[in-house]
Amino acid sequence: MSCAQQARLAIDGGPKAKTTPNPPMYPGGYEIGEEEKREICDSLDKKYIFRYYLPKGVPSKVERFEKQIAELVGVKYALGTNSCTSALISSLIACGVGPGHEVIVPAYTYWSSASAVLCARAVPIIAEIDDSFTMDPADVERKITPRTKAIMPVHMRGSACDMDRIMAIARKHNLAVIEDTAQACGGSYKGRMLGSFGQCGCFSFQYYKIITTGEGGMVVTDDERMYLMAQSVHDSAACWRPDRFAPARFPGELFYGYDFRMSELEGALGVVQVARLPGLLDRMRSRKARICAGLEDLKAKGIVPRRQNDAGGDTAICIMFMVPTVALCEEFVKALAAEGVDVMHAYHKQLHDWHVAHHWEHMIQQVTPTPEGYPYRDPARKAPPPDYAGLCPQSSDLLGRAVHINVPPQLTDADCDMIAEAVRKVANAYL
Ligand SMILES: Cc1ncc(COP(=O)(O)O)c(C=O)c1O
Repeated sequence: MSCAQQARLAIDGGPKAKTTPNPPMYPGGYEIGEEEKREICDSLDKKYIFRYYLPKGVPSKVERFEKQIAELVGVKYALGTNSCTSALISSLIACGVGPGHEVIVPAYTYWSSASAVLCARAVPIIAEIDDSFTMDPADVERKITPRTKAIMPVHMRGSACDMDRIMAIARKHNLAVIEDTAQACGGSYKGRMLGSFGQCGCFSFQYYKIITTGEGGMVVTDDERMYLMAQSVHDSAACWRPDRFAPARFPGELFYGYDFRMSELEGALGVVQVARLPGLLDRMRSRKARICAGLEDLKAKGIVPRRQNDAGGDTAICIMFMVPTVALCEEFVKALAAEGVDVMHAYHKQLHDWHVAHHWEHMIQQVTPTPEGYPYRDPARKAPPPDYAGLCPQSSDLLGRAVHINVPPQLTDADCDMIAEAVRKVANAYL
């Protein structure tokens, strides 16, 4: 095949640069094997799949999973929940977030970060992201009002927020920090594990996450009171208490709550998946490093992986880079997909995606399940409803120009080299 033929884009009828199938982006889920089956069958054989009040001699797998995550993150307490959304709601309420309060959430995160704030009866205020594609600390500070109670940094697409600056802002304004670590389990910032910086950190073990229990989440914290309050929120029936019917052990221990409990079957998957985490991270990091090394010479064309607040702690689940314009991004993504790469837009106006605030129409229009418009309209707010019109132009510009490539751990060396070659081919044609 001649060089000219090779360089012809697949979208124009040339040969594909990547000819192998793309593994799906379920890092831990795709590796489920005999060990998970053994743990699940063990729970089923014992015929006890509820975490509390286990028969004598049947240790709780949820409890074991909690201890493993607490140890991994380096905190004293961990509480298994049925999702990260419920972990966020529990943490927000535990931190004292409620009616009249605002919580600052970034424009690039899964919708449930903002939804959790509304479920905690407070109002999300949306902050810009910067070129790290995580919360922009300067905009966070601009958006603080007398109603602000907490900041929710989201370690988006596996990579750390600027935790030095965010924690300094939180300290200066006396705000709680609840880290949404749903997409960054095992990541770190300057040597400290993500999830351990704020009053609470929240994890997701939903199927698309780095490790999975199908559905599931975790609250982590160093603060005993926070842990006990989150425990109360997550268990309306208060089963966990030493004596289910005992009076409150401290004022405020017992109040209304939800059922956000994690089941033993999720715990059974979790104890195995968490052991797979170091291997998954090593593989994703080596895959990403190999692809990025193959893109080095494209720096001259402006193809530079997103800025990292701490590259050493990146979980390496994806590669993101920007091209000069939104229109070019559209062409670039189409051409790269035609080359056989698992590529997507970070944001496209016409492609609905719950990960970008500009698509959260029900929040922008302040739609609520009941007509009074609570909590956007709330006498406790002592201010007009929030104004989401024209929100976060910096974020839509950055995201609109961003090309996103998944990095599943199952990629082979040859896959990585073909991905780099595909990007080179398209970059040479368009830039
Ligand atoms: C950043 C982020 N936060 C929160 C969540 C919610 O997680 P879960 O599905 O476990 O409730 C997700 C899941 O997609 C997420 O990506």
